[in-house]
Formats: sequence, C-alpha cells, structure tokens
Amino acid sequence: MKILVSGGTGYIGSHTAVELLEKGFEVVAIDNFSNSSPEVLNRIKTITGKEVTFYKGDIRDRDLLEKVFSEQSIDCVIHFAGLKAVGESCSKPLEYYDNNLYGTLVLLETMRKYGCKKIIFSSSATVYGTPERLPLDETCKTGGTTNPYGTSKYFQEIIMSDLYKADNEWTVVLLRYFNPVGAHPSGLIGEDPKGIPNNLTPYVAKVAVGQLPKVSVYGSDYDTPDGTGVRDYIHVVDLAKGHVAAIDGVTHSGVYVYNLGTGNGYSVLQVIGAFEKACGHPIPYVITGRRDGDIAACYADCSKAKRELDWQANLTIDDMCGSLWNWQSKNPNGYNK
Ligand code: UD1
Repeated sequence: MKILVSGGTGYIGSHTAVELLEKGFEVVAIDNFSNSSPEVLNRIKTITGKEVTFYKGDIRDRDLLEKVFSEQSIDCVIHFAGLKAVGESCSKPLEYYDNNLYGTLVLLETMRKYGCKKIIFSSSATVYGTPERLPLDETCKTGGTTNPYGTSKYFQEIIMSDLYKADNEWTVVLLRYFNPVGAHPSGLIGEDPKGIPNNLTPYVAKVAVGQLPKVSVYGSDYDTPDGTGVRDYIHVVDLAKGHVAAIDGVTHSGVYVYNLGTGNGYSVLQVIGAFEKACGHPIPYVITGRRDGDIAACYADCSKAKRELDWQANLTIDDMCGSLWNWQSKNPNGYNK
C-alpha cells in the first residue's frame, strides 16, 4: 500500500514516515522544507534502512501534485503540510489561510481527479476552542477558535466533512492531536523549531542545553492542582502509530474523528520536573503572567480510538522528556550541525 505523506519531513510527518516504513508501507512524501530540512530524509533512511520517494515542493503547486499523482499510484494521503505557529498566524492570517486552506483544496482536488479518496488529516485539539467539558471527547462542540491557525484546522475539518457529504466514496479521518512532544528513541529525528520555540517542551529543552537562560512559566494562578496550565502531552512516536492504526482500522468510507492523546494531564511544573529528571540538572524557571489565549487545562478522552482503532498511547511523560533530551543533546542545533 502506497501512502502519500504531505509535510513528510516535518516533526510529526517524519515520525509517521518511520512508523509506516517499519510496518511495510511504501511512503511517498512531499515537503517544501519551509519548517524542515532535507537531512530528515537521510535520518529516516538510517533508522529504517528504507527510502522515502520524495518530491520537493508545495502542495499549492497544482503541477507538482499532478506529477506526484500521475507518477505514483497513491492509496491514501496523510495530510500534515501546513503552518502551525499560533502567534504568527495572528500577524499573518492571509498566509495561514492560503497555506492551510488553499493547499488543502488543491490536494483534495487532485486526489479526486486521480480517484484517491482516503485522507487522514492532522487536526488538533485546538478545534475545541475553550473546552466545553473535560476530558474532551469527540462529541464536544468545536469552533470558537481564537486564532487563524486554529480556525484553519477547524475549517479544514469542515471542508473534508462536506466533501464526504457530497461524495460518499470518501474516507475522511480527522485526528485531533493533543500536545505532541518527545522524539524518536534513536535521537536521529525530532522537533527542530526555527528561532525561539513557542511551545513548552522545545523551550525547556533549549534551556536544558544552555541555549536559553530560563523558562517563563505562563501563570501560576489557574484553577489546577499547582496553579500552572495542564495539558495532555503525547509522545510523538505514539502519535505516529495512531496514523498507522487509522490506516489499518478505518476500512469503510465515512467521516471518522479521533482524539489522540494519553488522557492524562500534566502541569507546566510537572513537565519541568520530569525534564530535570531526564537531563540530570535543574532547569531555571520564573513564574510570569498568563499568556493571552491560554486555557487552564486541556486533556482528552481517548477511549474512542482505543475502542475503534485498537490504539492507545503507551509512553510516559518520562519517556517523552528522556527522548527529547536525547534528541536535543545529540543535535543541539537541530538538523543544522
Ligand atoms: C499550543 C497551541 C495549540 C497547538 C499546540 C501544538 C497556543 C495558545 N496553543 O498549545 O493551538 O495546537 O500548541 O502543540 O499556543 N507554557 C509556559 N511557558 C512556555 C511555553 C508554554 O508556561 O514558554 C505553558 C502554556 O501556558 C501551557 C503549556 O505550557 O499551559 C503548554 O503550552 P504549549 O506547549 O505552547 O501548548 P498549548 O498552548 O497547549
């Protein structure tokens, strides 16, 4: 079975490519390297001993997608390609909608033209906006997103659901990720954010390796056990395996929605503590004010994925921090050695 992975050299795309290759799938990937490096392809080969068939370019490039679909007989697409920085999306909404919405439209149109009607979409818990209740299950209301990145994920879910309504031959799987963290145990691939990281764990890792002075903990007055924000962190390898489970487990057309998380919430201070254990030294931090748009707590009910896909996250917060430290300490400058 041949899978096209859009955004295949990105953080989650590369880990998913590894899991797919290890399960015997053929992987075709496309990426414009806007937030990744060609070196990822060498690393995937070192880990798996297998090649990805790679096309460099943008999913908004219709001619390129025509080339991919005419040269490769694609059975299913896993669609990661897109911009994902919340803050940047607020200052560049048009760029975000163009990349994330127009890119998805070109991809879906080309898939339809070539009769490939199975897509697994990289969505996010961000589509739930302010959680209606906790834990979040897939029936919780969506929308009310607070930034163009989140709104683009929400719109993409709607576009794909409407496509199924118009043509019942489509299989649409919407995977709502909670907070993906960690790295492959080999330490060869991992998250490589450009500039100063926005997300907690890459920031903590850069403090641990001495590239940033201290972590700012955004608020300690939330209604949570220690007052700091609580999130459902999921190991990127477990998350990648969730995509393989979706390919194997969804065999009929329809629209399927699954939360991918662990179901456990950890606070910012607990994450810092777990990272200190992983790296073996204290992580300096300071409590600052809340970050605009943040919520107190967010964690998943993942029982639907367990029930229907026979998938569940198995790795712990210590595995997440340990693997991130392994990646960060072996690659202090990411893929730019
Ligand atoms: C963020 C995005 C979300 C996206 C997800 C991808 C926001 C508001 N939301 O989620 O849309 O899908 O990343 O992984 O950006 N924190 C600190 N100090 C830091 C960084 C973060 O204390 O330097 C805290 C935050 O307040 C939060 C927790 O750590 O409580 C996690 O933050 P982060 O990693 O940015 O993820 P989310 O905000 O949950």
